[in-house]
Amino acid sequence: MAPIILILNGPNLNMLGTREPATYGHETLADISKLCADTAAELGLSTEFRQTNHEAELIDWIHKARGRCAGIVINPAAWTHTSVAIRDALVACELPVIEVHLSNVHKRETFRHHSFVSPVALGVICGLGSGGYRAALQHFSHLVKE
Ligand code: DQA
Repeated sequence: MAPIILILNGPNLNMLGTREPATYGHETLADISKLCADTAAELGLSTEFRQTNHEAELIDWIHKARGRCAGIVINPAAWTHTSVAIRDALVACELPVIEVHLSNVHKRETFRHHSFVSPVALGVICGLGSGGYRAALQHFSHLVKE
């Protein structure tokens, strides 16, 4: 069976398409989900794509990935800047993690410059829009073949 990459999206990302299009573009989360599914099919990966506005739910999904998935792509959205609990869950699951942001958070407000997730991530991609999800999956396809 193809290795499973879990793709997790945090709060307000269900609003993409209509949410601050000047910052996040016009693509919807369904468009990004399709891009990830198409990319995974090209690369021989299997993906599960999820979004939640509830931090506890995201933490439960991270725990359940341990031993089941080959890696996690996560856009923690606003929880990036606030959540020690998500950081700790990512460490506990012992999987490689790639952090993705649609926007370049370093060009934005200073409160977005700090991430609790980045120090425990394998890598961070920001500012490339949905291309960041695609790049993260491409990296995982190399990693699982090593
Ligand atoms: C975001 C950046 C975060 O600062 C913000 O809270 C989001 C989206 C991004 O994808 O650019 O909700 O993670």
